[in-house]
Amino acid sequence: MARLAVNVDHVATLRQARGINYPEPVAAAVAAETAGADGIVVHLRGDRRHINERDVRLLRKIVQSKLILEMAATSEMLGIALDIKPDCVTLVPEKREELTTEGGLDLITHESHVREAVATLKNAGIDVCIFIDPDLDQIKVAHKIDADMIEIHTGAFCDATTSAQKQKELFRIVDAAKIGTKLKLEVNAGHGICYNSIKAFKGLVEISEFSIGHSIVSRAILTGMEQAVRDMKQLILGL
Ligand code: PXP
Repeated sequence: MARLAVNVDHVATLRQARGINYPEPVAAAVAAETAGADGIVVHLRGDRRHINERDVRLLRKIVQSKLILEMAATSEMLGIALDIKPDCVTLVPEKREELTTEGGLDLITHESHVREAVATLKNAGIDVCIFIDPDLDQIKVAHKIDADMIEIHTGAFCDATTSAQKQKELFRIVDAAKIGTKLKLEVNAGHGICYNSIKAFKGLVEISEFSIGHSIVSRAILTGMEQAVRDMKQLILGL
């Protein structure tokens, strides 16, 4: 069965909307783990729009499953990762003006820079995942620069509005997952996955882990975090 890594960034988004000290993303992480989350994900952005360093440090102490830090491959973030030592770093592209991560990291353009970041993190004992589009050339570079894992960007599939577009994007993900596995990369998937779109991944055994945030935190507002995570775990169990 694939694992579920729960992203709690948007609990911090709500906190930052008021500039006060609640809701607490660490409490959300504990509730998610209680309900069976296999990992907790946070994205520490350069502009600190939701998660801040204090959150990552506390999560490092409290998370019992696996702490996954999403970050850009900047020297500031590498310094923080080497200090806090999450279990895994997922390298993502980052633009200040974006609402959320748009597209995977372009490894063709940034190969040498990302290669250095991968080596730095791996030398410190941190597993490295790279968030990339479902594209054969990108996957080949991820393998070449010695990443442990790839996270396939599922956003284009989840956002597609026609069934033809959805089918095309799903095929790209299936191909990418199979190629990644052939290259001995662990294959994860994430971005935009909700309680409906998760069902499309039925039978795609190459995917080891789903990274899901917005839909779970949105449901949690109405049902509570534990129930929201249990509902998603149940759907993943049925894949
Ligand atoms: N994976 C990556 C690399 C992301 O940047 C995000 C968004 O923070 C997610 C997964 C989770 O996406 P969503 O919040 O749409 O579930």
